[in-house]
This record gives sequence, C-alpha cells and structure tokens, in this order.
Amino acid sequence: MSTTTKSAVIETMYARTSVRKYDATYKMSKEELSAILTDAITAPSTSNMQPWRFLVITDEEAKQKLLPIAFNQKQIVDASAIIAVQGDANFHEKARQIHDLCKEAGFMTEEVAETQTQNSEKLYGGLPLETRKAAAMYDAGLVSMQITLAAKDRGLDTVIMGGYNKPAFAEAFNLPENEFPIVLIAIGKSNGETNRGTARLSVEDVARFI
Ligand SMILES: Cc1cc2nc3c(=O)[nH]c(=O)nc-3n(C[C@H](O)[C@H](O)[C@H](O)COP(=O)(O)O)c2cc1C
Repeated sequence: MSTTTKSAVIETMYARTSVRKYDATYKMSKEELSAILTDAITAPSTSNMQPWRFLVITDEEAKQKLLPIAFNQKQIVDASAIIAVQGDANFHEKARQIHDLCKEAGFMTEEVAETQTQNSEKLYGGLPLETRKAAAMYDAGLVSMQITLAAKDRGLDTVIMGGYNKPAFAEAFNLPENEFPIVLIAIGKSNGETNRGTARLSVEDVARFI
C-alpha cells in the first residue's frame, strides 16, 4: 500500500492468514456463525443468482465423521465450526424467489422482476450443466473469501480447504442432487501458535499494464 492509513477492510485483508491450529475449547454459537454468513452473502454473484449453499458443522460426531474425508486435517476437529461451501448447479431455479425479494424491497417493478426471472430461467436453464457449475464455483469463491474476512473482522481465524474427498463428502452428508462440494472452511480461534508466513509474487510478476 502506498498510503500510510489503511481502511479497516484493507487491514483485515492483510491480517487474514490461513490458521491450521485451533483452540479446541473455543465454541461458536449458531447466532455468531449465522451473523458471519449474513455478512458474507453480500458477495456479488452471476446475475445475483447466489449459487452458494452451506452446511455448517459444529456437532462433534459430524466433525469426527468428516475428519478422514478431509484427509485427517486436524483443524477439522479443533476449529469451532466447519463451513462446507457447496455450489447449486440448478441455481436458476431460485430466480423467481430472488427477483420477488428485489420487488418486495422496491428495487424492481413487478414487470422488471418477471422479465428478469424469465431471462434467468431461459439463459441458465439452457446452458450445459458444466457451465452452470463453473459459474457457481466462481461465486462460491467470492463468498468464501468474504467468510474469511467477516471472521477475521470479529477476531476469528479461518482456513479454506480444498483437500477433501468431495464425492465421499457428498455421500456422507447427504447433499441434495443439485449441490456439489467446493471447499470446507474451518473457523475458530487460533491456539496462539504462530503461523509460517506466505510470500506473494510481485504485482510486476502477475499483472501487465497496457
Ligand atoms: C481453494 C483453496 C484450497 C485450499 N486447500 C487447503 C487445504 O486443503 N489445507 C490447508 O491446510 N490449506 C489449504 N488452503 C490454504 C492455502 O494453502 C493458503 O491460502 C495459501 O498457502 C496462502 O496462505 P495464507 O492463506 O496464509 O495467505 C487452500 C486455499 C484455497 C484458496
């Protein structure tokens, strides 16, 4: 950053790191977890289709069941909760519900809501499944990032995990047909052990300016 004062959101971005060692005694309530999700789902998404779905796991037995599926990553059982992020491959089926909400909030007229619903159903319903899944996966990445920042803002730590057996997860946790696993996010309080830092490529390495 070239400026000396950073906004709270930028501070939070720099403060977030992946934490893999948790205080196993620290518990989070359903309300706290819901509040983090409420903040996170402000994320943008493809045509506002919000194709993310969550399974929030705090139950100890469920965590034990998940442990081998996530290749015995210790944070599965030590973190307060695991937020499993899924994509909804048939997200367009909620187009009417979403546009009705926009209408009720006064953001759309009845006519606009109807047109947008029909457009979304036609467009996304006509796309190959793999294309819808790619859109859902991208949007799930955005909401996942927001979960990590909303947690950090509350003094909590997270790690995003792609290392798990996704078909086994879908089966063990009875995911509906339309939901496919994307990442697990462990959330809780660090046990205080310092992390090894991670370096970044420079902007010059990753960006071209024309
Ligand atoms: C899609 C994705 C999958 C990841 N999977 C794992 C994982 O399975 N286990 C793990 O310990 N960390 C996992 N990570 C965390 C990365 O290793 C970490 O974000 C990266 O090394 C940068 O470090 P930082 O998050 O501390 O900045 C994953 C991160 C992402 C974005």
